[in-house]
Formats: sequence, C-alpha cells, structure tokens
Amino acid sequence: MGQTVKPTEDSLSFEMFGIRFKNPVWTASGCFSYGLEVANNLYDISQLGAVVVKGLSYKPRTGNPPQRIVETPCGMLNSIGLQNPGVEYFTKEILPQLKKYDTVIVANIFGEDEEEYIKVAQHLDKEDGVAILELNVSCPNVKKGGIAFGSDPEVLYSLVKRLKETTGKPILVKLSPNITNILDTAQACVEGKADGLVLINTLLGMAIDVEREEPIIGMKTGGLSGPAILPVAVRMVYQVYEKYGTSVPIVGVGGISDYRDALQHILAGAVAVQIGTANFYDPYSPLKVIKGIKEHIERKGYSHYIKMVGKAHKIKVS
Ligand code: SIN
Repeated sequence: MGQTVKPTEDSLSFEMFGIRFKNPVWTASGCFSYGLEVANNLYDISQLGAVVVKGLSYKPRTGNPPQRIVETPCGMLNSIGLQNPGVEYFTKEILPQLKKYDTVIVANIFGEDEEEYIKVAQHLDKEDGVAILELNVSCPNVKKGGIAFGSDPEVLYSLVKRLKETTGKPILVKLSPNITNILDTAQACVEGKADGLVLINTLLGMAIDVEREEPIIGMKTGGLSGPAILPVAVRMVYQVYEKYGTSVPIVGVGGISDYRDALQHILAGAVAVQIGTANFYDPYSPLKVIKGIKEHIERKGYSHYIKMVGKAHKIKVS
C-alpha cells in the first residue's frame, strides 16, 4: 500500500495516518449511534477497527419530521436529517465514555455552511479521543449543507482545503453516489488534500404508500442503504482505486452484510470497510465480518488482508 497505510503485527491490523487499527472493520455513521448502546448492552466495542459516530453539527439538530425510515426490497430508506445533540454535548457527555474503549473514534462532521464545518472541526481538534474526521458532504436529507457540498467539485475543493488548513486531524471525505461521475468529486478532494475517501453514502430514493397514495417518508425522499446498494458501492470503490491506486486510501461502505461483501469492497480497493444498515438487523454483524475475513485469509494462505486490497484490478499492489 501507499506510505500512509502499513500492515502491522497480525494478519488484520494496520496503520493508517500513523493510527493503529486492530482490523479493517468499522461501524458506519448513523447506524451505530455513538457506540454506547452496543458497548453497554451487547459486546465490547474495543473489538472493532473503528467506530464512526453519528454526524455532528455545531448546534444540536432535531432532525426531520416522521416518517423517517421505511424498509424497501433488500434495503432501507432513511431521512433522519442529521439529528444530533451538537458537538459540545458530544465532547462533554459522550466522548469521555467512548474513550474507555480501545478502538479508534472517527467523528462524522456536518455543517449547514463552510463556517459551521470549520467550527465543528476546530472544536474536535482539541480532543485527543477523536482520531479522524469524516466529512459528511453527502447526506441527501438536509436542505442546507450535506450533499449540496458534495455534488459541486469547486465547492467541495474549497471546503476540504479550508478544513485541512483548520485541523491537524486526518480528514476522510464521505462522498455521495448521487452525482454523474464519482471521479469528479474524488478529484476535488484529492486537490483539496483530503487524506482519504469514504465511498459511498446513500442513494436518493422514494417509496410510495399505495393506499394513502403519497410518499411514505415525511420529507418525501430518503437515502437508500442496505444490500441493494452493494454493487453500486463496489463499482465506485473500484473506479476510484483504478484512478488513484494506493495513493488515496479508500474506506468502502455500502451494502455490506457479511464478510464476502466486505471482501468485494477490499478487492475493489478499500483498505477498510464500514458496516452500516446490517447493524439494525444484526448488531453482531461487524464481529462476524471480522471473523469471516480472518478465516478467509487463512484459508487462502494470505499473511495479511492488505495483500487483497485492490486485487480485483489487473495492476500490481504491494
Ligand atoms: C440523515 O441523518 O438523514 C442521514 C445522514 C447521512 O446520510 O449522511
């Protein structure tokens, strides 16, 4: 892999941006809250490669009116509207509890305008418990910010550049699939000096209630996630890796339910993966994915999972 990613002592651990991850399996923003429900009731979240927390804005947000979630064939539509208690509450009340766990904390951050993104990043910059910022420029469910930043390469470039000047923490940009060409927004992030990319957020969709004869979601549209989007996510990871190779670390997210889905992302070029919607029907799924990847590499005779990153391309990977 490129200089920023190095395998470490065992077959699943690695270092990226100088941060050590126990394994490449992270939980996705918005699908694991702040990690504490699982930590307090189900399992020790120190087993995870990283926890990406629900999107944080500067001020608290109440989110969108109901109905916010609907199940769809092989997936789910959500329109939460980035409900969250605000970054100050997070750092005072939630982060101290999260820091007790030996996992990497990634803060997904959001702003209605550039200034709000900067304020959130500045606030988190002082927090040693937060290792990485994941820039949310892809939420399809808000009127201001979110996808409005992630669909215009010039606006995106300016935001990423300013944030890189603001914070000493590595920045991963979570991109939207709701654009014509993922390479345009990926390029804007590379030029703005993002440290890596997270591919992909949800696909904009709609479901209609045939009795009421109106959209089910309160905001009419929502973001589609779950197994239905796996092929779209894998294609985008593949496309971006094909262009940048190991020079831009990619974290793959979208449709991962089991270790085989995770391996598709890894073989396409992702150095790590995030488990999202699967947590809602099986909160143990991230642990099952870790176990599945470990057993797979042993069966295939790999010394380290990193040997598989980008292997589906006909280019040499180290
Ligand atoms: C939401 O809060 O509406 C979803 C967040 C996202 O898609 O980034």
